Amino acid sequence: TGAFTYDPGFTSTASCQSKLTYIDGDEGVLLHRGYAIGDLAENSSFMEVAYLLLNGELPNQDELSGFTNTITRHTMVHEQLAAFFRGFRRDAHPMAIMCGVVGALSAFYHDSTDIHDPVQRTIASHRLIAKIPTIAAMAYKYSVGQPFLYPDNSLSYTGNFLRMTFGVPAEAYEVNPAVEKAMDRIFILHADHEQNASTSTVRLAGSSGANPFACIAAGIACLWGPAHGGANEAALNMLREIGTPDRIPEFIARAKDKNDPFRLMGFGHRVYKNYDPRATVMQKTVREVFDALKVNDPLFETALRLEEIALNDEYFVEKKLFPNVDFYSGVILSAIGFPTEMFTVLFALARTVGWVAQWNEMITDPDQKIGRPRQLYTGPTQRAYVPVEKR
Ligand code: CMC
Repeated sequence: TGAFTYDPGFTSTASCQSKLTYIDGDEGVLLHRGYAIGDLAENSSFMEVAYLLLNGELPNQDELSGFTNTITRHTMVHEQLAAFFRGFRRDAHPMAIMCGVVGALSAFYHDSTDIHDPVQRTIASHRLIAKIPTIAAMAYKYSVGQPFLYPDNSLSYTGNFLRMTFGVPAEAYEVNPAVEKAMDRIFILHADHEQNASTSTVRLAGSSGANPFACIAAGIACLWGPAHGGANEAALNMLREIGTPDRIPEFIARAKDKNDPFRLMGFGHRVYKNYDPRATVMQKTVREVFDALKVNDPLFETALRLEEIALNDEYFVEKKLFPNVDFYSGVILSAIGFPTEMFTVLFALARTVGWVAQWNEMITDPDQKIGRPRQLYTGPTQRAYVPVEKR
């Protein structure tokens, strides 16, 4: 017993101090180190945002080249890791593979698991950011039965990832610059989002002194759930199920029905009670990708119409439910060629930057303690043990 604040879901608990990301959910504002997400998405690159989150300032040209080169030098994974992949069933969900393989990195890189050594922490951070696209692409290749491709370090971070995913050894792979740009922007939009469930998981795991590879694996496991990173997959599946705009009212009615567990996936957010600023950028990016690839997925029309109907519906207005980052991302990712099972993997890839930055901030925070919430005990009071024959 004891007098503890009861806060299920930590809706009103600040678990740490942080200089990384600021969100004003009522105004729909998201800033990384003071820079608006819209500005970063428009003008920056994922490598630059990674540098910003890790180091606190935007890099100058030399710093950016130096950082990019460092990340590039670590893109290969240990050759034995390929054997590790082959232990998975071919139909394994790629997020299951990600949880396992990223956790296993701690068994491959012993020289960067000492969290008390700042040099080792930096190397682990760089390794995680550099290797996650390689591992993500390998998870995809494994699922489609194609050979793994080694990284090509002459390409950008994102271009390299696209090639490792969609290229095959038999043919030269041309990175489509418009797709590369869109993908890079999607990575920026997912890079960090303060103390969300998976980031809190990474911090909690790290608070016990666990090594960074294990902590990021814990974050990946948490991200997998449909209420968090799994929502992009769930949102596209939902749009496919709805199909044509004439069926929207049926699904809106289900979302409003208290007796039906169905929710509009890609809608609502714990913090945003206004339009998610990432969704604005995402919606714009859909059109750019469609133009570049000369495709037009009718599901985009369904999504736009669904948004319009929901935003004019009393239920959604009252509860302040708006599209979130995941509402439009699925339409883009599927146009680029990713199967839905890969969507959350892409989220994990990008969020690795945020997780790593948050983990570093936590480790160097003088106030840092092991995370150990208390509870309100609601079970029986002390009672006498009854031998089994008397029960
Ligand atoms: N469709 C229908 N009703 C909803 C929805 C929705 N998508 N989201 C929330 N509500 C209702 C909910 O039923 C509840 O109603 P009431 O107050 O009458 O019980 C009210 O709105 C508040 O919802 P909550 O579940 O108490 O709010 P939360 O802050 O715990 O949940 C959420 C936030 C994101 C989990 C939730 O909105 C949700 O499940 N959305 C769908 C999944 C989704 O898109 N997740 C991605 C989030 S953004 C990316 C990320 O963080 O990974």
